[in-house]
Amino acid sequence: MATLDQLRLTHPEIRDDFTIDQHWETYGAAEHGVWKTLYDRQAKVLPGRACDEYLSGLADLKLEADGIPHLERLSDRLEKLTGWRVVSVPGLVPDEVFFDHLAHRRFPAGHFIRRADQLDYLEEPDIFHDVFGHVPMLAHPVFADYMEAYGKGGMRALNEFHALKNLARLYWYTVEFGLIASGDGGVRIYGSGIVSSRTESIYAVESPSPNRIGFDLERVMRTEYRIDDFQESYFVIRSFDELFAETYKDFAALYCKLAGGATYRPGDVLATDHVVTRGTHTYVGGSHAAE
Ligand code: PHE
Ligand code: FE
Repeated sequence: MATLDQLRLTHPEIRDDFTIDQHWETYGAAEHGVWKTLYDRQAKVLPGRACDEYLSGLADLKLEADGIPHLERLSDRLEKLTGWRVVSVPGLVPDEVFFDHLAHRRFPAGHFIRRADQLDYLEEPDIFHDVFGHVPMLAHPVFADYMEAYGKGGMRALNEFHALKNLARLYWYTVEFGLIASGDGGVRIYGSGIVSSRTESIYAVESPSPNRIGFDLERVMRTEYRIDDFQESYFVIRSFDELFAETYKDFAALYCKLAGGATYRPGDVLATDHVVTRGTHTYVGGSHAAE
């Protein structure tokens, strides 16, 4: 990750909080075209797979289908719903900067968009992942509160408990790759890393390969994750109210407990797990999932 001084060379106007002006007018036709292609692909696969809360957010925000959204205008719509805004950043930002934005209900979105020949591969989150993947859920009041609480919790984990690894796993298995029970025995997607990826949207809901395990806070915080392939296990929440209730309590004692005891690998299934579907682990993917 680049430092502020390095970023000043390419983004002289960058602020201390790593934000830049989006300068929406500088995106070209090819960049808007990539957004439209990605949007159209997801519009085909998400109905019936993404959760109702995500799909309502997409609709309520009138998220642009034809090109990269103007973040100030999008933020004005989002702010009316939950008080969140979306700010532009060159790319990944340091943990403490990221947490500070979340704690103040600002979501940092990468400025760039992937190239047309890289639709399914990303090394760093781009504006499609950050905006299409994350912003619709920020229109949901409970999820909006969860994200703010996560930002505040991130500061504590970083400065007081040195437990960032544990807390980052919670983000990974909920915000990025979370599933929610659909009520009819199936699951739906709310995780941003899934909703912004065509192949993983189908895989996460339909593939017999991954484990789908009932959400348990301590279990999740002990579980490593893979960043280079589809997930071997997903964790399934029952509701956003439950997720919030489970996490909106003081983690101090939990962090102490986590400092000892086991760490689990991504594909592990434990005797104590509430297994929704047990994976077959037959997936041998050639390509990597875009975030
Ligand atoms: N409750 C956590 C703490 O005490 C903060 C937090 C809230 C983390 C919600 C994630 C989600 O630090
Ligand atoms: Fe993300």
